[in-house]
Amino acid sequence: MNKVHDVEVALGARRYPIRIGRGLLDQGDALRALVPGRHVLVVTDANVAPHYLARVETALAGKQVGTRVLPAGEQEKTLARFGEVLSALAALGASRDATLVALGGGVIGDLAGFAAACWMRGIRFVQLPTTLLAMVDSSVGGKTAVDLPQGKNLVGAFHQPSAVLADTATLDTLPDRELRAGLAEVVKYGAIADAAFFTWLEENAEALLARDADALAEAIAVSCRHKAGIVARDETEQGERMLLNFGHTFGHAIETQQGYGGLLHGEAVAVGMVLAARLSADLGRAPWSDTARLAALLERFGLPVALPPGLSGDALLERMRLDKKALSGQLRLILWNGLGAAAVATDVPEADLRAVLDA
Ligand code: NAD
Ligand code: GLY
Repeated sequence: MNKVHDVEVALGARRYPIRIGRGLLDQGDALRALVPGRHVLVVTDANVAPHYLARVETALAGKQVGTRVLPAGEQEKTLARFGEVLSALAALGASRDATLVALGGGVIGDLAGFAAACWMRGIRFVQLPTTLLAMVDSSVGGKTAVDLPQGKNLVGAFHQPSAVLADTATLDTLPDRELRAGLAEVVKYGAIADAAFFTWLEENAEALLARDADALAEAIAVSCRHKAGIVARDETEQGERMLLNFGHTFGHAIETQQGYGGLLHGEAVAVGMVLAARLSADLGRAPWSDTARLAALLERFGLPVALPPGLSGDALLERMRLDKKALSGQLRLILWNGLGAAAVATDVPEADLRAVLDA
């Protein structure tokens, strides 16, 4: 096995490990040690199961193991699928010391995590992320949720995992488009908090696209360190954690308006980050040259940087008003003052926002 990166999420007295390395799913003892009780439900999706489910089941031999394989995709992150996971826990006879294992991307992690938050008012869960996006973002920090037709992640809970094991060998089977979507969230950490990391990404773009194992592991570890630090300082998003939503208010509006079947989450975030950067430059908060660098890096990663055709500015604005960061109907946007320096803005004139959406 190659080098393993260890990161810890420290939430006062509570803490949990993030391990990042190739071959972690083959370490059965380590996986079994994360499941102290008798019952364990493994939730995964139909694309991931054929590659990795058997390995996890083997590691958990001796436990009373249930599995639930859901159809893949954002359209499945619904209350109905959430109900199916609860039914699977009931069928297993899962008691309060049961563990739920989420094996998959952010959709499975968010949905299964929400079921773990609700079953008997909260049971242990372990994240085994298999997409780049889930490794660098969604598996860490305890945000769990499902979507409604009216908006993304509108129903959910904060419920921290007890461990995150990111086996980077699973990225070998991840489609290119999904890898690129994950790179959008990696770029986000550079954009909001770490200009030096942004430069490192510019210098290592080709290695990352070529799936160089060391470059990917480094990018994941740096991203997780940023996320762990922010979550430790602001677990329930009262302040600093909002910065992690750079590009997301725009991105969520795009995804919802497209019925969760258009751009991937990471792609919508890429567009959203460029719109947020353009708006910041329009408002005189940030240099245009930084917007250009951001757009150029995202384009190198094969990501979209402009709104897809056919989306109306009015409709997007209406969606943005239902965003979870909005307060009393007042929009809160994450803008930046330039590379590495994001900030919350509540005073954006609607005309400027409309101008960016209509451009
Ligand atoms: P995803 O879970 O839909 O996975 C993407 C696709 O890749 C799916 O088709 C999946 O079946 C497939 N797949 C996963 N792993 C694979 C592998 N190793 N090999 C082959 N195929 C594989 O999407 P995602 O991009 O991982 O996550 C997006 C979701 O994450 C969104 O719902 C978003 O809202 C959520 N999210 C949550 C947080 C959070 O903090 N909780 C943060 C960011 C994003
Ligand atoms: N992905 C945003 C957050 O975890 O806060």
